[in-house]
Amino acid sequence: MNVVHTIAEVRALLDGARAEGRTVGLVPTMGALHAGHASLVARAAADCDVVAVTVFVNPLQFGPNEDFDAYPRTLDADVALAEASGASVLFAPSVAEMYPRPMATTVSVREGADVLEGAARPGHFDGVTTVVAKLFAIAGPCRAYFGEKDWQQLVLVTRMAADLSLPVVVVPCPTVREDDGLARSSRNVYLTPEERAAAPVIHRALRAGADAIAAGERSAAAVRATMRAVLDAEPLARVDYAEVVDAATLATVDPLVGELRLLAAVRFGAARLIDNVGARVP
Ligand code: PAJ
Repeated sequence: MNVVHTIAEVRALLDGARAEGRTVGLVPTMGALHAGHASLVARAAADCDVVAVTVFVNPLQFGPNEDFDAYPRTLDADVALAEASGASVLFAPSVAEMYPRPMATTVSVREGADVLEGAARPGHFDGVTTVVAKLFAIAGPCRAYFGEKDWQQLVLVTRMAADLSLPVVVVPCPTVREDDGLARSSRNVYLTPEERAAAPVIHRALRAGADAIAAGERSAAAVRATMRAVLDAEPLARVDYAEVVDAATLATVDPLVGELRLLAAVRFGAARLIDNVGARVP
C-alpha cells in the first residue's frame, strides 16, 4: 500500500501505472471509511488494475455552521480498510496541499445543484464539484466510483464530467445498509443509542413512498405525505425534506412518471442524515 500526501506523488504513481498499461480506479472519500466505502473500493478493484482511494475532508463543501471540525478523522483505520478492500494507493493530502491559496476558480453545475441538498446547504455542491474536478485532474484517465447513497452528488458529478469532457467514467454503486435499513454513513457515529434506534425510520419512509408508487400512486404530493407521515411518527426525527423527483434531472414531476428518486434529509440530534431509493413508473 502506497500512502502518499502530495499531488506530485499520487500523479507519478497513477501515470506510472497507465504507462505500464494498467487501468486506474479512483474512489474519492472524506475518510472515516466504512462498509459503504469498502464496497466502492471492492468494485473498483474488480474492474481496474490499480485502485486509488482519496481521503480528504474538503473544507469547501462545508457551511460555516457545519461539522468540518467535528468530522471524524481516522487515517490509520482508513489505510487498513482501503488496503483490505483492494486499494494499493491512498492519497491523503493536507488542506494546504489541495488549496495552497484561496481558490479563484470553482466548478459549478448550473442544473440540479440548487434543490434538495443544495437548497438546505447553500454552496455545498460547488465545493463538491470543485474538489472532485481537482481530484479528477490529479488522477488522470480513470474510472471513478461514487455511491448512490449521495444520489444528487452522483448526478452532478456525472454531469460535470460529461460537460467538461473529463477523461473519467463515473460508475454508480448501490447503497450499503445496516441490517435494519439505515444507510452506512460516516456521520452515524454522531447518533446516540436512542437516535441510532430511531434512524432506520428514514429508509422505512422512503420504502413506504416507493411502495405507494408501486401500488399505483401517481401524485407527488401524496407520496410526499406518505413519507412525512412515517417520519413524523418518530419524535426524535426532524425532517429537512422528503421529496420525489426525476432521477436524472432532480426536477419535480407531477403526475409521477419515468425513473424517479425518493430522497430525504433528516436530523437526529447532532446528526444530519440523507438517504434515497429509486422507483419507476413505466
Ligand atoms: P464521503 O461521504 O466520504 O463518501 C465517499 C463516497 O462513498 C461517495 O461516493 C459516497 O456516495 C459513497 N458512500 C458513502 N456511504 C455509502 C453507502 N452507505 N453505500 C455506498 N456508497 C456510500 O461523498 C463524499 O465523501 C464527498 O462529497 C466527496 C465526493 C469525497 C468529495 O469531497
